[in-house]
Amino acid sequence: MDYNEFRTAGHVLVDYIADYLEQVKGLKLFNPVEPAYLFELFDEKIPDDPKSLTEIHQTLQQKLIPYCTHVNHPGYMGLITPSPNPAGILAEFLASALNQNIGAYSIGPSATAVELRVIRWLNDMIGYDEKAGGNLTSGGMTANFIGLKLARDFTTKDKAQHEGMNQGWVAYVSEERHVSLDKAVDSVGIGRNNFRTIPTNENYQIRIDLLKEAIQKDKANGLRPICIIGLAGTTNLGAIDDLEALNAIAKEENCWFHVDAAYGGGILISEKHKHLLDGLDLADSVTIDPHKWFYAPLDAGAILVKDHKRLNISFGMQPAYLTDQSQQKNERYQFYVNGFEQSKRFRSLKIWVSFHHYGKSKIAEWIENNISLAKHLHELAIKTENFESATEPKMSAVCLHYKTPQLTDEQNKQLHFAVTERIEAEGKYWFATTIMKGKTWFRINPVNIYTEKKHIDGLFETLKEYCEVEITSHKPVPG
Ligand SMILES: Cc1ncc(COP(=O)(O)O)c(C=O)c1O
Repeated sequence: MDYNEFRTAGHVLVDYIADYLEQVKGLKLFNPVEPAYLFELFDEKIPDDPKSLTEIHQTLQQKLIPYCTHVNHPGYMGLITPSPNPAGILAEFLASALNQNIGAYSIGPSATAVELRVIRWLNDMIGYDEKAGGNLTSGGMTANFIGLKLARDFTTKDKAQHEGMNQGWVAYVSEERHVSLDKAVDSVGIGRNNFRTIPTNENYQIRIDLLKEAIQKDKANGLRPICIIGLAGTTNLGAIDDLEALNAIAKEENCWFHVDAAYGGGILISEKHKHLLDGLDLADSVTIDPHKWFYAPLDAGAILVKDHKRLNISFGMQPAYLTDQSQQKNERYQFYVNGFEQSKRFRSLKIWVSFHHYGKSKIAEWIENNISLAKHLHELAIKTENFESATEPKMSAVCLHYKTPQLTDEQNKQLHFAVTERIEAEGKYWFATTIMKGKTWFRINPVNIYTEKKHIDGLFETLKEYCEVEITSHKPVPG
């Protein structure tokens, strides 16, 4: 290895990244080329003609960068992938170089201590006591999977791990759940047919009355609740279920209470807004994604568990090839017997560095800014003819619907898609669409450090104009 080349190329790369972050607002946010064009661009055999890092960097500038979705662009208000904070970017760089494999303590002693500290911070935010534990994961998908596995083992009195799942167990959640939970009930053997997705009220919170009814109906048919799942920040809208009511039901039914706060958990560091998650500490397990609202670069999700022992009960197998290590004194914390993963990335470093560099209050300020931008967008929409906002945002997610009584539902849906595609193609703003309660919505979520009020105003003006243009292109429905 030529470390001089590494050093030079590394300096160039850091300069390049700094320039990129400074100048990204001038780039086209999204470049809507055909996927086939990109597959062609990278259609190449395994290279065997070594090139300099400089040359490779030039190739990446031509072939990769122009077709990235620039989540650091202030107009990015889409699927929940925030602009990564710059200190976290550097921490990821260092973590790769150290390559600590914290599945086993001996391949990352100090990294294990950092990981445990960050998990402790997350548990403190929730309000869990010293018995709590957790794992950092690839994201909310894996965290929810682990949450459901813990639920399954607890409620079946640790039989399912050995005997597999018997029929007859049911999990409950609101219709606004993230799809990770459907995958999780499938993966742990509960089965999607045994997953009740309960309708929501006008604030998109689970209807407790309907949940109770569903449980009674299932019990009358010989089925038993295995897990009640609460949502603390729905993917579409940031809606928050009544966590205290859900916990009371779970306790009554002697089953696990898991809360998916993958997106919403970030709000816990905001003194102004954290009360919105009152009751979160009642949950047996909680998903929080630091790569969402703590602006950590991907990837960093987390499953936090009120009673740390449950992790060891669910995952505590010790294969012979690791037995020596696991039998070391208990100070040598082994993630592999307290979690699903064996090889395990050192995900906590970027979170630890971010909090040390910016401080909790600064990160909370970014979150609060995102929330006030969302509220501003909501205000603009409700004051404007033909626009509807699903609810007043509690978090940063806003869903807007353009009303077109003269169009069919299908035409209205196509209008939303056409406007979204037009805006995507221009490359100034990016957001998603969704369907809720049978209607199509623009789903706009500024979880971005760089978005300002002027960007929200600009986006809303564009939306208004393009919706009006679209409507004039549609013929009225006959009759
Ligand atoms: C509420 C919620 N849960 C879970 C997930 C899945 O998280 P990840 O994409 O980090 O796996 C998401 C993703 O947006 C989410 O919004």
